[in-house]
Amino acid sequence: MRAAGFRRYGGPDELVLLEHPPPIPAAGEVLIRVSAAGVNPADTHLRAGHLRRFLRLRLPFVPGCDGSGTVVTLGQGVKGLTVGDAVIAMASPRQGGMYAEFAVLPADQCALAPVVGTLESAAGLPVAGVTALQALRDRARVSRGQAVLVYGASGGVGTMAVQIAVALGCEVTAVASGPNLPMLSGLGAREVLDYTDPAFPDHEGRYDVVLDAVGRLGAPLVDRFTAPGGVLVTMNPPSMLRHASWLLPWTSRRAVTVIARPRRRDLDELVRLADAGKLHVVVDRVYPLSEAADAHRRSEDGHVAGKLVLVTGSPGSPGSLGSLGSLGSLDRSAAGAAHAPVARPSAGGA
Ligand SMILES: NC(=O)c1ccc[n+]([C@@H]2O[C@H](COP(=O)([O-])OP(=O)(O)OC[C@H]3O[C@@H](n4cnc5c(N)ncnc54)[C@H](OP(=O)(O)O)[C@@H]3O)[C@@H](O)[C@H]2O)c1
Repeated sequence: MRAAGFRRYGGPDELVLLEHPPPIPAAGEVLIRVSAAGVNPADTHLRAGHLRRFLRLRLPFVPGCDGSGTVVTLGQGVKGLTVGDAVIAMASPRQGGMYAEFAVLPADQCALAPVVGTLESAAGLPVAGVTALQALRDRARVSRGQAVLVYGASGGVGTMAVQIAVALGCEVTAVASGPNLPMLSGLGAREVLDYTDPAFPDHEGRYDVVLDAVGRLGAPLVDRFTAPGGVLVTMNPPSMLRHASWLLPWTSRRAVTVIARPRRRDLDELVRLADAGKLHVVVDRVYPLSEAADAHRRSEDGHVAGKLVLVTGSPGSPGSLGSLGSLGSLDRSAAGAAHAPVARPSAGGA
């Protein structure tokens, strides 16, 4: 099978097409014919070797923490999934493996794909959606009526966080650069703020929950934004350390961090929201697997609007999503997007 991986740590050009034997599912695992894979910042950090002190990878390594596809084979004892099911799946960064035509994962890291939307867009749901859900619901414990500020609202996690907070009954303020603000209003944000506006640093807001998906919020801004008794949620460990060291001892505000865990019940919850029309994946750009290096370059420029997706099937193959005519297209109009039925490619052997 074809996969995009790296033989050594380095820049985006280290990400090349590799030929690998298809993986074989063990007991409790599922073999998935991958239709599309999401691109996440963790993939680029792994490739660059930023995490190698903490995560020892066996090279060559195929990254990819989320994606969508069709169940091909079930390992012994798998319940709740059937061969031919369209699924979404989430891997840990160490597991990776979704930048490939086939991937194996424990069944409890997979869920039936949304009926609404395409497998292409569903590939972008798991990591960003689970991170936002676990950050808001489990770590910040948001409740209906609370004021939530999402900083970095136009990225993968941010677009999910805005919609999940709205679905949980919160009043959401979204912070992003100017061109992305209309998209965020379309996703349900009540107020949108441009961080490039010179007047922005003076914004005074007392939010119950501040979710920082960028990790650049300085202490004075956190102090100005977060209400006494409020919670700051960070997802970049350095920013958590930075804020914990001054927030916890000196103020009534709490700082918590989130490390997203792949959990089937959370994937099911995201699918439920998607099928209810409350959660859309904003697709910034779609690339073929052979252009994974370009996708990493785009991710590393730090201004992805929504999600980057790699299409793993080749045109016309059973695992493909049909015409690749949309490659390179930019679809940021999530709220008004037309949703085609999920493509359910026929199952086949590896
Ligand atoms: N802990 C976990 O389990 C976990 C899980 C997933 C992700 N993460 C981390 O969470 C972060 C966000 O992930 P992601 O997938 O959402 O990334 P992403 O899709 O690449 O989003 C990046 C966003 O950052 C915004 N941005 C860039 N510079 C900014 C600035 N100076 N001020 C405000 N916003 C700025 C951009 O908005 P504009 O284009 O509008 O400027 C862009 O939308 C990453 O650091 C990632 O590693 C952690």
